[in-house]
Amino acid sequence: MAACRLATSVVFCAAFAAARFMNLNEDYQAEVDIIGSGENTSILLLLTVNTKGYVGFGFGPNPNMTGADLFIGGVNNSMLYGKDYHGIGNTAPEEDCDTCQDWEVVTGVESDSGTSLVIQRLVNTLDTDGDIEIQNSTTYVLWSYGEFDIINHHRRRGFRELNLFTVDDPRPGSSTPNPN
Ligand SMILES: *[C@@H]1O[C@H](CO)[C@@H](O)[C@H](O)[C@H]1NC(C)=O
Ligand SMILES: *[C@@H]1O[C@H](CO)[C@@H](O)[C@H](O)[C@H]1NC(C)=O
Ligand SMILES: *[C@@H]1O[C@H](CO)[C@@H](O)[C@H](O)[C@H]1NC(C)=O
Ligand SMILES: *[C@@H]1O[C@H](CO)[C@@H](O)[C@H](O)[C@H]1NC(C)=O
Repeated sequence: MAACRLATSVVFCAAFAAARFMNLNEDYQAEVDIIGSGENTSILLLLTVNTKGYVGFGFGPNPNMTGADLFIGGVNNSMLYGKDYHGIGNTAPEEDCDTCQDWEVVTGVESDSGTSLVIQRLVNTLDTDGDIEIQNSTTYVLWSYGEFDIINHHRRRGFRELNLFTVDDPRPGSSTPNPN
């Protein structure tokens, strides 16, 4: 499923025309862009997930939630939501403090075919409450989603080891990587 196929807005797709593709799971694809420079370098993600429930995206030093930096959000009764969390082990993640909320939910849509969310964050937030700097090196990328907008309920999850600065999976339907 091409990520942009779900998006109802043309602007949505245009913004990601040059992005790199990430295939996290058959039901969970993403496009990623690193934009800006210096202290203002940001990561922009388009998450496209085959669920009408919540969507989680994270990264960290382990293939599990211990020490992970996490975003959880979605579209609930037409309202966008999303927050910064951090993993503290084999239990529900904790919300970062109110002044340490760094992910911006730029836009999102939910339809019968799933949820698409555009989220953005500085690669280095300088927050000490559970945040990790996103670097040009291999990390564990954690994906999760739920059946409903009830965090941690009926969850599916997994991980991939990849570099968010360079990952460039072949797009569905094409056998070569995205030329960008
Ligand atoms: C980052 O953005 C701020 C606010 O727009 C600006 O003042 C600063 O000069 C920028 N820094 C760099 C390195 O571009
Ligand atoms: C998480 O993964 C690390 C590295 O594989 C392991 O040492 C640790 O025990 C795991 N933690 C949990 C809670 O599963
Ligand atoms: C990431 O690192 C690779 C290898 O060191 C380098 O070629 C590439 O330019 C870097 N990309 C960015 C966006 O910094
Ligand atoms: C979604 O909306 C329902 C009903 O209003 C509410 O009970 C639930 O807490 C909401 N979930 C989130 C994640 O905001």
